[in-house]
Amino acid sequence: MDIRQLFSGEQKDQKVTVRGWVRTFRANRFIALNDGSCLANLQCVVDFEKTPEEVLAEINTGAALEISGTLVESQGKGQLFEVQADSVTILGRSNPDEYPIQPKKHSLEFLREKAHLRVRTNTFAAVMRVRAALSFAVHQYFTQHGFYQVHTPIITGSDAEGAGEMFRVTTKDPSQKSDEPDFFGKETNLTVSGQLEAETYAMGLGKVYTFGPTFRAENSNTSRHLAEFWMIEPEVAFNDLDDNMDLAEDFIKSVLAYVLENCKEDLAFLDQRFAQEEAKKPQQERSPMGLIERLEFVTKNEFMRVSYTEAIAILRNSKPNKKKKFKYPIDAWGADLQSEHERYLVEKHFSSPVILFDYPAEIKAFYMRMNEDGKTVRAMDVLFPGVGEMVGGSQREERLDKLIERMRAMDIDEEELWWYTDLRRFGTAVHAGFGLGFERLVLYTTGMSNIRDVIPYPRTPLNAAF
Ligand code: 4AD
Ligand code: MG
Repeated sequence: MDIRQLFSGEQKDQKVTVRGWVRTFRANRFIALNDGSCLANLQCVVDFEKTPEEVLAEINTGAALEISGTLVESQGKGQLFEVQADSVTILGRSNPDEYPIQPKKHSLEFLREKAHLRVRTNTFAAVMRVRAALSFAVHQYFTQHGFYQVHTPIITGSDAEGAGEMFRVTTKDPSQKSDEPDFFGKETNLTVSGQLEAETYAMGLGKVYTFGPTFRAENSNTSRHLAEFWMIEPEVAFNDLDDNMDLAEDFIKSVLAYVLENCKEDLAFLDQRFAQEEAKKPQQERSPMGLIERLEFVTKNEFMRVSYTEAIAILRNSKPNKKKKFKYPIDAWGADLQSEHERYLVEKHFSSPVILFDYPAEIKAFYMRMNEDGKTVRAMDVLFPGVGEMVGGSQREERLDKLIERMRAMDIDEEELWWYTDLRRFGTAVHAGFGLGFERLVLYTTGMSNIRDVIPYPRTPLNAAF
């Protein structure tokens, strides 16, 4: 039986069997057993006089055990129930001199090197359970709101974002020169986004979403970028940018409310951890709210909605720090915002999530709908304290002539995307969607500070271990 179920107490005074891994063994008597089902360990009390010497010798941190005994109300402090063990079976030994996860605080950097074992720590187990709950909440939200999940291809022939940061997929040996056609008879890559294909499905199924891995060969070694990350991309026919903002806001609030309700124990633990980490920072960099407080705040308050042009005006009149300057000064309208600008807006100016919209066309992708001003497009980014850009989305250009014009101006291959422009030929309609970086959502929800610590096996430049 899962330890989590035992803590309900329904099995009180009955015989139970549990299996898990030893966290600690004290005084030849108290085993703290964890099976991953929840944060709390189950205390199992062994009678060392009745337990063979060779079994006692193998009850080491990290070992896998099966324990049978009676579930009783605990005498000790800190837990409601414990197991009085009748028998202990060693399922898998663990040499205490070699096992790297000792019952003490390890640094996150150290644990990244032991990524195959780090989920046996409280922090990583809590993060991964919250990640799983968020993933479930995503599917639940869209299903309840009438969306269909579509599985868009992982190998593609097009660069959806037109940013050219793709990983080539080929069966050709790069050291051999050959005129043989490649596997697909054309150049192919790992997808950077399922959006373009999702758009085609929205134009038949109405409301769709994707939730899959995406890949970007950007050489940005930051705490917010991965080369392989999971993206959630809803796409809705007949939605305009305002509907799109409403959807993004409601969706984020809803999945956060789900974890607040369903991951109480893990969030309480992560909340404490967050407080300890924040306390190490200089006063002015600390989060003004605790982790749970911050999540509740987001679910209860409206996101600020500000146009790019308004944001530029705010930034120009701001004094971000003692020097009253940004590293990248805001000189002219039209420049892309740097993360220091985004952070200033969400963390200092508004102290809330912010949706920026109507960006200059120049700095956004070709598929975004041109505004009447001919200068800005119907783009939106949702910015969050601590993580920066959580969502990027837009209303799509549904007018064939305007789309072609933009593709030409931005040097996007029309021939390659014939099927995408076809959508504008047969029953075109206003539509919109966005992409939410799942790891950035997990980062924000768990209060971790590095994106490498919210995915089991991070892929980053010069790192694809495990
Ligand atoms: O803003 P992006 O590039 O938007 C798109 O890909 C659109 N096609 C989405 C759409 O409209 N359907 O990426 C969307 C989100 C970002 O806001 C960010 O949260 C996340 O994906 N993201 C990354 N997350 C981790 N590592 C990276 N290298 C990321 N690049 C983007
Ligand atoms: Mg973006």
